Amino acid sequence: MRQKIVAGNWKMNKTLDEAKALTSEVLQLVNAEVKGKAIVVLGVPFPYLVSLKDQLGSSSIKLSAQNSSQHDWGAYTGEVSALMLKSVGIPYVILGHSERRQYFGEDGKLLATKVDKALAAQLTPIFCCGEPLEIREAGTHEALVTKQVEEALFHLSAEALQKTVIAYEPVWAIGTGKTASSQQAQDMHAVIRKHIASKYGNDVASTISILYGGSVKADNAKELFSCPDVDGGLVGGASLKAREFVDIVKAIG
Ligand code: PGA
Repeated sequence: MRQKIVAGNWKMNKTLDEAKALTSEVLQLVNAEVKGKAIVVLGVPFPYLVSLKDQLGSSSIKLSAQNSSQHDWGAYTGEVSALMLKSVGIPYVILGHSERRQYFGEDGKLLATKVDKALAAQLTPIFCCGEPLEIREAGTHEALVTKQVEEALFHLSAEALQKTVIAYEPVWAIGTGKTASSQQAQDMHAVIRKHIASKYGNDVASTISILYGGSVKADNAKELFSCPDVDGGLVGGASLKAREFVDIVKAIG
């Protein structure tokens, strides 16, 4: 089932008290104002997952980690595995964010393993792809993004792929205030979906949720979300403000 999803990516921000306050504000606003069927996800730092899960209780808001290991258990100091996340009841994990690719050297081969581990632990990976500015300017963005998708996901069975969410995030739009136009977003989402269809067929491709990320704000969300191949958003900076984030959720209808 292709689902509408709005996921916040808090990155490395907030103390525990601030995280609880933001969660409580988001929860209140979602309960009071959100009538649509979009899934709302908060991608929060590891140390806050368990406490925020308790705080959210039976609410419809879901939690996501921002990374997980390519290993299950063992002597990997500082790592957190998908099985650990599963054991504390976390349903989503963001994988392959451009900041992980850029600062922590994550590549397609590693991400394919991380995706496998997440799926084996029954988590939903939110797999990120997207081109840097120089690639966009060189006009090779479609080739790069389809390669990123292929490297990390095309070894999966159709059934496994359908349990994965994709987020297209042009690197030049992340945290820059310079969002892709809705036409640029739609074009790339259609390219990704077509590429998936070329391997898995249209029926499978049409069930995959593809989110747009990169300077999504309350004032541009409606236009982005109205594109036929944009199934929601992965929201960084604007997810740190409850009012703005919930307005983005409402923009999906
Ligand atoms: P941004 O970040 O909304 O602040 O541009 C998006 C992301 O990095 O996921």
